[in-house]
Amino acid sequence: MAEIVGVVCTSHVPLIGKAIARGLQQEPYWKPLFDGFHPVHAWLERARPDVAVIVYNDHGLNFFLDKLPTFAVGAAPEYVNADEGWGLPPVPPIPGDPELSWHLIESLIAEEFDVTTCQEMLVDHAFAVPMSLLWPRGAPWPVRTVPVCINTVQHPLPSAQRCFKLGEAIGRAVAAYEPHVRVLIVGTGGLSHQLEGTRAGFINRAFDEMCMDRLVEDPRALTRFSNADLVELAGSQGVELLMWIAARAALAGPVRKAHANYHIPISNTAAGLLLLVPDQAESRQRTGSDRPAGHEQTAQA
Ligand code: DHB
Ligand code: FE
Repeated sequence: MAEIVGVVCTSHVPLIGKAIARGLQQEPYWKPLFDGFHPVHAWLERARPDVAVIVYNDHGLNFFLDKLPTFAVGAAPEYVNADEGWGLPPVPPIPGDPELSWHLIESLIAEEFDVTTCQEMLVDHAFAVPMSLLWPRGAPWPVRTVPVCINTVQHPLPSAQRCFKLGEAIGRAVAAYEPHVRVLIVGTGGLSHQLEGTRAGFINRAFDEMCMDRLVEDPRALTRFSNADLVELAGSQGVELLMWIAARAALAGPVRKAHANYHIPISNTAAGLLLLVPDQAESRQRTGSDRPAGHEQTAQA
């Protein structure tokens, strides 16, 4: 059966793509952000995911205000990145995994998440920038991908509670997928930021740090925030926290924080990075305690 090897949540600022294109990773402004990814690269080398389910939000490249699904899942053989007007060179096309996509779609619809299915899908900076951050060597990309797009652009947005449930359903779908593939879940967006209006530049470090803590141990606690709360506390684009909540919820069971980084600002945004992995030691202990005496040593080895 398929297994989730970990969850990575990261911000997705377009300016990061520009810094990559210009090779500025070691410049003082950028170093604290890019160096934060080194432990994640080392972990990816060991974890070797075959496929990444990428929970992100489109900003007007594939969906515009005229037609905007609340949840959409890609089911294409590849995903093309294109110019959104930021001046970023598009990254090479990213391979899809139609078989896992359709499994996910069937499973989500059976669980009453009526997702829009996309057999063609352009992916914007919220997909491409995290790909480049996680796999800086670029194409040929070492993973296949399944995009899961959540509307965080045009209100009404799905609630944190609904996004949490979507993430749980993604976790169940992966657990029920027969091919033995190693799945990475990625959530992109946030943390606190606001791009427009009188609060442009708004960042709330205390709130972000609280969210990063809760995401490890008690992610459900974040579902008590309404989207109006999130706009107030994290800024109007800080609602992109919804993708972190959905991605995190895919990992059922004990979780360990393998790495975290937080740096402000990158462009207008508080840039966060979180790597969570299933806590096998904890799981083994729980299983071990159910076993007859004498088996503990093997159970915990
Ligand atoms: C910025 C952040 C975003 O999340 C985004 O989608 C676009 C721009 C920024 O900080 O500039
Ligand atoms: Fe964004």
